[in-house]
Amino acid sequence: MYKQELKIIVKSIIASNNDDEYIHWAQKLSVFYQKILKDEHSDNNEIVVQGGIALSSSGAADCVDDYLRTIHFIKGIYKAINNLDTLFSCRKINILYAGCGPYATLILPLLPLLNKERINAVLIDINKSSIESVRNIISKIGLEDYNLHTIETDATTYIIPKDFVVDLAVSETMHYALTREPQVAISRNIMKQIPENAIFIPQEIKINLAFTFFNYEPSLKIDINGIKGYKNMQPYIYNVFVDRLLTINKEHFLGENNDSKFETNYYSLPDNFSNHPDVCLFTEIKIFEDIELKTAESYITNPYCVVSMYVIKDYSEIQFVYDFSEIPKWTYRLKKKQLISRRKNS
Ligand SMILES: C[S@@+](CC[C@H](N)C(=O)[O-])C[C@H]1O[C@@H](n2cnc3c(N)ncnc32)[C@H](O)[C@@H]1O
Repeated sequence: MYKQELKIIVKSIIASNNDDEYIHWAQKLSVFYQKILKDEHSDNNEIVVQGGIALSSSGAADCVDDYLRTIHFIKGIYKAINNLDTLFSCRKINILYAGCGPYATLILPLLPLLNKERINAVLIDINKSSIESVRNIISKIGLEDYNLHTIETDATTYIIPKDFVVDLAVSETMHYALTREPQVAISRNIMKQIPENAIFIPQEIKINLAFTFFNYEPSLKIDINGIKGYKNMQPYIYNVFVDRLLTINKEHFLGENNDSKFETNYYSLPDNFSNHPDVCLFTEIKIFEDIELKTAESYITNPYCVVSMYVIKDYSEIQFVYDFSEIPKWTYRLKKKQLISRRKNS
């Protein structure tokens, strides 16, 4: 019964093509999960690892309610699996899901649409209760006949078994501007172990620098009705794009690059900044091919304010440092304004 209900929901998610439908079907998925698990999640089991904070199982469950994120990831993963299905028609497709949370939200709903003979999936989470919850859901929905392995382990250090050649790896373990959660540390560990032609989702995460008015920028917020107000938001017209600071994709981790720290160039700070007083970072996510998440379409693409220029007005240049060796964060360094000395004509 549950499997049939999930199949109807996921078919509708795949077919949905406008914001109202996305929200409607993401809410149906959320209600479906709550019905099965009846709020059994703990909210005091966050875990700090080298590379970031793993959300509590309750926090991870709530991610399903980040509606556009959930819908676009499910659509992107479905598209990637179909591509792989055509490419490898004579063998099974191996999927690794790092940071699956208590619902395995981005893969599990797709299973009723997929031929169980064609899929092997490894679902990982560091949180014991999230993994137990996934096992529980698999049995309640009746998906035990799929080849699914659930493992409680740290995805930043997990070693993929040699006989499991990954075709598709998925990890959504991120917060906006790649702060707080271990997306980059997990991506680095997994990307370095999967074959060159394997797909990693999200395919690309871009962090852009802009000078703007942070309070006027669109930002997704929780609304009392549960529907987010993202439709009412307009981009701020005096936003000044400065540069792309960082792109996380498979190419980024090619070779022996094991640094957990990344420094940008120095950028000039404008003398007149009244229209755009805040130094901000914007996140864009290419999930798979043309399926993307833009600013404020999701909590994970909300803008992030690094510093106000009023605080650093005695400085002329700024450089950014991204460090994910512990809890990921952005810091900055500043260069002083040069005092121009005038020589009197004698
Ligand atoms: C943002 S939640 C997303 C949950 C689910 N994938 C979704 O999209 O709804 C991130 C999940 O990754 C897990 N996680 C974070 N860091 C991890 C790590 N180092 N190893 C394994 N799992 C991790 C957290 O416990 C949490 O369940």
